[in-house]
Amino acid sequence: MRIVKYVFGLSVALMAMSTQSCTQARPENNNGHNLWLGDITAPVIATDTELLSEYDKELGDEGFRIKRNDKGVAVIYANTKAGIMYGTYHLKRLGECGKPNLDKEIVEVPAFKYRILNHWDNPNLTVERGYAGKSLWKWEELPGKIRPEYEEYARANASIGINGTVLNNVNADPCMLTREYLEKVKVLADIFRPYNLKVYLSLNFAAPKHLANLKTSDPLDKDVIKWWNDKVAEIYSIIPDFGGFLVKANSEGQSGPQDYGRTHADGANMIADAVKPYGGIVMWRAFVYAAESPDRAKQAVEEFKPLDGQFRDNVIIQIKNGPVDFQPREPFSPLFGQLENTNIMAEMQITQEYLGHSNHMVYLHPMWKECLDSDTYQKGEGSTVAAETLGKVHGNTATSAIAGVTNIGDDINWCGHQLAQANWYAFGRMAWNPDLSSEQIIDEWLKQTFTTNKKFVEPVAKMMLASREACVKYEMPMGLHHTFKGPDHYGPGPWDRSSRPDWEPAYYHKAAADGVGFDRTSKTGTDAVSQYHEPLKSLYDNVETCPENLILWFHHLPWDYKMKDGHTLWDELCYTYEEGIKEARGFIKTWESVERFVDQERYDQVHAKLIRQAKDAIWWRDATMLYFQQYSKMEIPSDCTPPQHTLDELRRFRLGISNYENPAIDRLPEYTLD
Ligand code: GCU
Repeated sequence: MRIVKYVFGLSVALMAMSTQSCTQARPENNNGHNLWLGDITAPVIATDTELLSEYDKELGDEGFRIKRNDKGVAVIYANTKAGIMYGTYHLKRLGECGKPNLDKEIVEVPAFKYRILNHWDNPNLTVERGYAGKSLWKWEELPGKIRPEYEEYARANASIGINGTVLNNVNADPCMLTREYLEKVKVLADIFRPYNLKVYLSLNFAAPKHLANLKTSDPLDKDVIKWWNDKVAEIYSIIPDFGGFLVKANSEGQSGPQDYGRTHADGANMIADAVKPYGGIVMWRAFVYAAESPDRAKQAVEEFKPLDGQFRDNVIIQIKNGPVDFQPREPFSPLFGQLENTNIMAEMQITQEYLGHSNHMVYLHPMWKECLDSDTYQKGEGSTVAAETLGKVHGNTATSAIAGVTNIGDDINWCGHQLAQANWYAFGRMAWNPDLSSEQIIDEWLKQTFTTNKKFVEPVAKMMLASREACVKYEMPMGLHHTFKGPDHYGPGPWDRSSRPDWEPAYYHKAAADGVGFDRTSKTGTDAVSQYHEPLKSLYDNVETCPENLILWFHHLPWDYKMKDGHTLWDELCYTYEEGIKEARGFIKTWESVERFVDQERYDQVHAKLIRQAKDAIWWRDATMLYFQQYSKMEIPSDCTPPQHTLDELRRFRLGISNYENPAIDRLPEYTLD
């Protein structure tokens, strides 16, 4: 208990934990608002800290060192207040997760320089793909009224090392750049500053037209350039440490430089030049695709590779983890391995657009880590996505960055699903240290959020660690992708139609009498495989070597194709869905087995959602396999859960929700679990 002397918040936490394990009483009701912090309203105060008089290069601006001084007292050393703060939270975490060993010096330095949340929040308080209530930012009340949640949010981010936040949706409303809104943004920036959390904004590329009535928003037009320079000067006069901009241009209807015959580089550089004198950055998204393309997965490389080397050094190309769109499993985006003289960063999605919204428990760290650990082989072995985005492959480490699209809203528990808080936590920890394992992060989160009791932590960690793979099995086995119902992306809709072919599931699954899957091979398909370096190109190209968990991403195969275990493709699909269903059912049992360790409120919420998740798993299987059966003419094996609805019933089912809502769990199709 020595550490109690040094960190105020920690002693309280340790005492609370010991009381709980002595009495065995069920914890009191908890609405989840405190996240992993014990008391989210209490700042963490370290008493023994030392700002270094000489700059310690190893630590940089945000790192810290914890070591005992000659009196045996553990002291946090850092070059900056931010470093001291991160060290204090680290010590608190160590204390709450077990007995910290302070005999050995601890040195921690964040891996990525920019560790950024992206909010897809709109001025009207809706949140695009947000499933935790409305926006946290109450624009109509700002700048006058300040909610306590603003500082709590900053504190939660500080505790996990997140140092930047883009406040508004990438589908940006131009109003965000008006003086009126900038005054509101300033209030948030002032609240976040002590927590080392910088504010960024998404911009609408056509803002000069919208806000200043200019005839054009052409990035080479001198009035347009002047407008942006003046606007940026205004922003920095209000928010001197403004971080910069995130831009979605010429994508899904957003305006961009191509509207004027200019390139992405022309557009990005104009903004980059404007923010450069103030130290700002531009995160320019690579999420671009045109409806006419035969393969959406290829377009980011087609668009950005020819521009390599043309971007300013304060531009970072922000690339989604996969080449399509945040599916439960995608191969890494090949663009990570295709640029040499351009800064790049990864964009992960924390909000579960395609993974059951806030109704399903899916711990996402294994999915993100799979991407970061993937080897692009751009400069031979070891050119992983992590190494590429850290700037280690091409020696451009100065602007390393990573972004996560948040799952945060104004729900009392922040994330909608109590267990989805783990994904916010995991994103921050991963951005600080991409080498941390999924196991370590979930262990830390569970201990800080619930209890350190092994009888709780072990089974729940196991359940959460299995959840991503389970979701892949019940939503998109074997690389089958985008069979989602639109536009909400909740539940299956392999038959769905849309205004654009590339927004229809059939564009991706290509189910027909001759088989299923997207042929991206070099000889008969779209040749997307050639965007990967060897040995991956050949590995994916050859059906014999292509990993079976991605086989339908790269190959179109007959229904009776023989899989490695001897099953036909059809049976394998059925059995993989079945495993997903079984695992989702198992999660309910696991949760029931730890009931006594969890307060009633959080227990009940999670329990109800786990039941829905298991029902949805059957719904997925029913819808997809009954739809495919029209083409395969094969039977669902008798040892699989029998379908509970006909294809016609499922096709008639409509959710009646907007893009933004999480479907109420009792308004989804009726299913029984027995
Ligand atoms: C997906 C998502 C959109 C979002 C887009 C983006 O397509 O469905 O809501 O705007 O990604 O990342 O820009």
